[in-house]
Amino acid sequence: MRKVLGKTMLWIRWELLLMAIIFWQRGQTDMNETKQSLGHVSVVIVGGTGDLARKYLWQGFFQLYADQVGKGYTFSFYGGGLSPAGKGTEVLFGILKELTCPSELSAERCALVKEQFLHLAQYHQLKTSEDYEKLIQLIKLQIEQEGMVEAGRLFYLSVPAFSYADIADKINNTCRPSHNAWLRVVLEKPFGHDFGSAQFLSKQLSGRLNEEEMYRIDHYLGKQVVSKILPFRKENKKLLDPIWNKHHIERIEIVLKETLDAKGRIQFYDQYGVIRDVLQNHLTEVMTLMLMNLPANLSNSAEILQNKLNFLASLQYIDRSNAVIGQYQAYNGEVQKELNKTKDYFSLTPTFAGVVIHVDNAQFEGIPIFMTSGKALDERVSYARVLFRRDTFCVQDPNNVQCKSKQIIFFLGHGNLQYPAILVSKNLFKPDLVSSNWKEITEYKDVNVLGLPLNDYYIQSPIVPREAYCELISHVFIGRKDSFISSEGLLASWAFWTPLLDSLAQVFPRLYPGGVANGNLLNFQLRGHQVTFSHEAVVNVIKTGLEENFQVMQGKFRSSDMVSAWAQELVERLASDLLLAAEKAIHEEGQFHLALSGGSSPVALLRSLALNLYTFPWRNTHIWQVDERCVPHTESGSNFQSIHNLLLQHIRIPYFNIHPMPVHLNQRLCVEEDGGPILYEKEINQFVNASRFHYILLGVGHDGHTASLFQDTKLDSHGEQLVTLTESPIKPHQRMSLTFTAINRAQKVGVLVMGKSKHELVTQLSRIKGESTKYPITKVQPKSGTLIWYLDYDALLG
Ligand code: BG6
Repeated sequence: MRKVLGKTMLWIRWELLLMAIIFWQRGQTDMNETKQSLGHVSVVIVGGTGDLARKYLWQGFFQLYADQVGKGYTFSFYGGGLSPAGKGTEVLFGILKELTCPSELSAERCALVKEQFLHLAQYHQLKTSEDYEKLIQLIKLQIEQEGMVEAGRLFYLSVPAFSYADIADKINNTCRPSHNAWLRVVLEKPFGHDFGSAQFLSKQLSGRLNEEEMYRIDHYLGKQVVSKILPFRKENKKLLDPIWNKHHIERIEIVLKETLDAKGRIQFYDQYGVIRDVLQNHLTEVMTLMLMNLPANLSNSAEILQNKLNFLASLQYIDRSNAVIGQYQAYNGEVQKELNKTKDYFSLTPTFAGVVIHVDNAQFEGIPIFMTSGKALDERVSYARVLFRRDTFCVQDPNNVQCKSKQIIFFLGHGNLQYPAILVSKNLFKPDLVSSNWKEITEYKDVNVLGLPLNDYYIQSPIVPREAYCELISHVFIGRKDSFISSEGLLASWAFWTPLLDSLAQVFPRLYPGGVANGNLLNFQLRGHQVTFSHEAVVNVIKTGLEENFQVMQGKFRSSDMVSAWAQELVERLASDLLLAAEKAIHEEGQFHLALSGGSSPVALLRSLALNLYTFPWRNTHIWQVDERCVPHTESGSNFQSIHNLLLQHIRIPYFNIHPMPVHLNQRLCVEEDGGPILYEKEINQFVNASRFHYILLGVGHDGHTASLFQDTKLDSHGEQLVTLTESPIKPHQRMSLTFTAINRAQKVGVLVMGKSKHELVTQLSRIKGESTKYPITKVQPKSGTLIWYLDYDALLG
């Protein structure tokens, strides 16, 4: 009893002392005054009464304050908003009163810390430059009056991204501290909508703020498990090194399933969709931390950011053939309601996506990385797991530990387990703890996690759970840049995702009912490097009569053979004709020489060829280019790059069978004196029997050009020349191209024309007899070879 009484007395004395200090400070400084001062930090949350601030930010700053009490810094906190002071103050203090105590503080101590925190917080209207100026004057005055040294100013922009540039301008113009103090500006996603817009936003910001001043938040990086992925890999490096590669890993899954829908945030969501909302950022960050090269020093932010960049650069190109998308059925109604759309409006925004990603490096090539996320699914759970190959053949005793799945799971939360944890199946190894703030879990609930009962895992978990935002706010405070997204990292991630997003822009997502009723509707399967839904949808398959009645139609077009079909069948037919041509050539000559055009028409064909990994005789096939744009092969406009991304990287073809056009010589592009066309011609003469390609695949542009031979090109002036430099009316203007001499010498020429937009052209071409300078394609007339037209129904029939 005396003990309890003594304790209470002590608390009362401690409280009195603190109250005295508080009054002495008159709310201007905090409880750290007695320690040697490290300086004053002003925190400004722009959008300080908004939803995010209410839910997470103030709690995060309160935690920061509580953590820092007694460590030498003093603080002031400002909530900024568009409302006038009276209303804003009321809302702000409504939020602050609800702050909950960090678990490590006793209730009494917490009450004091909270009271002090409330003293240090104020609301300010922040609309105009004058408002920002006034606030800064106030900050300066307070610091001066208290005789404090300024440590830094932290601005948290919890506002829509379209206002970033304007606010960054104001901060840059009026809110910079003197040169001894730091400026940090925290930004919330979305950081752009695709590569172009992210680049634009980045440029806008970089004109106003330095890279080291910007802290782009991805709250996944603050999740306790995510922030321990690298430390886990480092701590267990010796055990992981031998198995962290393609020989041992069977697949990787990165999953964020949600039961919630997008109701209430359609204004935002409908412009973004699931890929932009969570795959491009949160899930990409998780994947990167799992597979990037382990930095030698985990406290070296620059090294971590650089390794992340290297990893992103090693991802294989993806497009719609590597993804499936869905939309929950009620979504469109929500869109019509929240965006005031009419009943015939249909949004194509996906609320579900499943993507397969491959890494193009020796360590991980061939491992499928399944990334998936969706709203309105059957459960809320997020995790990333590495599933290892089973190397034991179990003749009997299937319950033997060696016969069970081997996996490492970074379990981010919810699901069966309910708490964040790292799980390693016991048949792998016993991992070291990632931190002294983590504990091993040895009491097992009776649940299964991803196929194994809990007691089949070694499990470790944080001792004290902490919100991601709290963690990240503390990292802004200590300037840990690797917990944030760098400009380069952001652009690298968008560069990876943008081709997929572009290629999905017109794709109808599969509709799903939502919740458990989704059944197997969203399951997807891998075929080669591509994915498809594994079950037929009954809900929204649109089948027209035509599609069922016609398969492939054969006939004549411009007095040559023609094959016509719906796009998919047509491409399959062309791929199989190519296979026949290859087999024949290899049988007769031991090699098959195939020249491929650039542009959009061959895309579907190249994808389809990439699936013929095993059946096509790639080892004896030589790939040539029909034409090339005068840009480096590393640029996205390069035809060679698209042949590489769509086909070459997926197949096993000897390097010496690949013949890119030499547009880039002597560090310059397509300069006559560098003799690129002559070089290519020599190469053709050297490899191709009588310089007659076995197969040349062409497309036709809307203006009737083929290869890079345009109306204004001196089409007949090439004589015996096989390769030439040409000018295109559309950018990039400079091109290299095979000439009609080379084309008309080929054994077979296929012309692939697809899409409604080409119907007009196809009609024109069908009316022209013989050659026309207006339509260069009409000059394709193989001398002793055959020409065959592949026209899909859209192009042929409109
Ligand atoms: C946000 C997305 O960034 O992350 C939300 O905008 C998503 O749509 C959320 O629900 C998921 O985060 P968490 O922490 O709940 O997994």
